[in-house]
Amino acid sequence: MRLILVGPPGAGKGTQAVNLAAHYAIPHISTGDIFRLNIKGETELGKLAKTYMDAGNLVPDSVTNAMLEDRLTHSDAQSGFLLDGYPRNVGQAEFLAEVLVKRSITLDAVLELSIPNEEIIKRLSGRRICRNCGASSHVIFDKPKVDGVCDNCASELYQRQDDKVEVVANRLKVYSEQTEPIIEFYRNLGLLKVINAVGDVSEISASAIAALK
Ligand code: AP5
Repeated sequence: MRLILVGPPGAGKGTQAVNLAAHYAIPHISTGDIFRLNIKGETELGKLAKTYMDAGNLVPDSVTNAMLEDRLTHSDAQSGFLLDGYPRNVGQAEFLAEVLVKRSITLDAVLELSIPNEEIIKRLSGRRICRNCGASSHVIFDKPKVDGVCDNCASELYQRQDDKVEVVANRLKVYSEQTEPIIEFYRNLGLLKVINAVGDVSEISASAIAALK
């Protein structure tokens, strides 16, 4: 299974990706997570990405495309993958199409997670991330057993810089101006499936799996 998850910030792409990747036994490839790992490791890529991410802007395509192409060469991605947060503009979608042609593989589907803006604000303002393992939780919708402490590894939880209200507004603008056009791109290819992303996490996963049957 080769899948793409698309949707605005906070739509639940990362949350759903965990369930779908486990269901289909494919790697969850999140460009945002790869950038955050590089920021944590203080690499040159991390230092560059941070300046864009903190402001809610896209990291330049030249950097992101090269990173994604390299990730697709890893052994775990040879029999399938789930892309989360990539592609994020039509240029990236066209680049991915060329990479897939070069490798003689095709996509199975693109899942669009559909969600109203007011729900996005609630989700992002309450999201907390584990400093150690990167797991995501929520102060109301997915409360950790102990406030501020990760259920998985007992490390400290923090709020992403780009989840601050002023940055979220820019991320939503960037999404509607730069990312939404890829929905039409994939609809025209007959690959798009729209999923209602409001409701119980496991019910949303079940409807995504049903749509892929
Ligand atoms: P990225 O990390 O990809 O962020 P994003 O797309 O903005 O998405 P989020 O991680 O904010 O949200 P999500 O949809 O994964 O939601 P989640 O499951 O966490 O990108 C960050 C930045 O990196 C970009 O701004 C850009 O700078 C850069 N970048 C990344 N990829 C790039 C690319 N291809 N090109 C250029 N730049 C790139 O859920 C959110 C919250 O809601 C959580 O707290 C969760 O617990 C909760 N929740 C989830 N589902 C539900 C539910 N059903 N009900 C209630 N709560 C829920």
